Amino acid sequence: MFEPRDAPYPELKKTHTMAHLGRPFTDFKPPAAAPVWAAIEGLGRYHLLVAALELDLFDTLRRIGPSRVEQVNAQVGASLEHLRTLLDSIVVLGLLDQVDGVYDLNDTARRYLVSDGPATMADLIPVAPGPHDNWTRLADTVRNGRPATPIEDDPAAFYVPLVEGTFTTMYRCAMRADLKLRYSALDAPRVLDLGAGGAPWSIAILHGNSTATAVINDLPGVVDVAERKLAEHGVADRAELLPGDFHTVTLEPDGYDIVVLGHVCRTEGAEGARHLIERAFEALRPEGTLILADYFCDDDRKLNPHAVLMGATMMASTVNGNGFTARQFSEWIRAAGFEAIRLIEPIGFQQQFVAIKPRWPTMSTDMGE
Ligand SMILES: C[S@@+](CC[C@H](N)C(=O)[O-])C[C@H]1O[C@@H](n2cnc3c(N)ncnc32)[C@H](O)[C@@H]1O
Repeated sequence: MFEPRDAPYPELKKTHTMAHLGRPFTDFKPPAAAPVWAAIEGLGRYHLLVAALELDLFDTLRRIGPSRVEQVNAQVGASLEHLRTLLDSIVVLGLLDQVDGVYDLNDTARRYLVSDGPATMADLIPVAPGPHDNWTRLADTVRNGRPATPIEDDPAAFYVPLVEGTFTTMYRCAMRADLKLRYSALDAPRVLDLGAGGAPWSIAILHGNSTATAVINDLPGVVDVAERKLAEHGVADRAELLPGDFHTVTLEPDGYDIVVLGHVCRTEGAEGARHLIERAFEALRPEGTLILADYFCDDDRKLNPHAVLMGATMMASTVNGNGFTARQFSEWIRAAGFEAIRLIEPIGFQQQFVAIKPRWPTMSTDMGE
């Protein structure tokens, strides 16, 4: 006897019409093109923001307050229609507000985009992706295993504006890290800051602990930024500059209570990163602390897009740089001899491995045959 049965996938029968989804009664729903458009628009989005900064739009709006495009243009002196298009685009990027034709800063712009915002990224944005030309030649870089113009060819040209731009965030992070590390409670700690940039970590520690002293290393030309920042923060008298290559510069063994490797490992490749960790170990006195900041990928390299894309940025513009996983870093840190390894995140998206050099050399557990 014939028994009427439900069609398979009754929901699909209702919703899979030709009009909506192509052929009816198939399980295939075409994926959205949105991720492709996001990639295409990425180039434009970045350059829109760079242009807005070059034209001083955020600082102008801060100075003159909520304004129509004509009022902004009276300050900027651009093509009115082009300026309107730029402003509207910045609004849809979520970086300005517009109501009834009046443009104004929003909270994001106030914090990150005006030049004296509390966490300004205005100087960082133009330089953060590395030399722009390297991105247009990325396929060649992947083919050849090396960028045509790596930043190592002229490190000061790249790093001076970069470390100016990253200082605010790293300084804030280093200040907050005291809640986890209690460097302010140490008695006359000696700090070694390798590849210090503007020396945000050292300056935070020197501020937090009036008995601390620091040795600040960076490349000649870049170390001048640290010298200026130390003076601006009134702590230059407790800091000594050590210009030179962090792989080869002479370091006092067993001499420091804290060694900082702040965002220096990912440009060095696995071998270079391990070498820096080993150098940090040798420079620390027993019970001294390593602070290693970076952007760490997860094991599958897909859950932390910022870290993975930072790795791609390293690939695009450095000889050895890449993104590494938290597991790789923790293995390298352990292999160098450290113990009590932990990961801290004093502010959002800024993580550091913290590890202690043991009081006694670790005994090998391999007893031999
Ligand atoms: C991304 S910045 C990090 C600056 C700072 N440590 C921080 O956490 O904000 C990397 C720094 O490493 C420095 N650097 C790169 N290669 C170096 C080398 N071979 N020797 C010493 N410093 C180096 C750069 O000049 C730059 O200041």
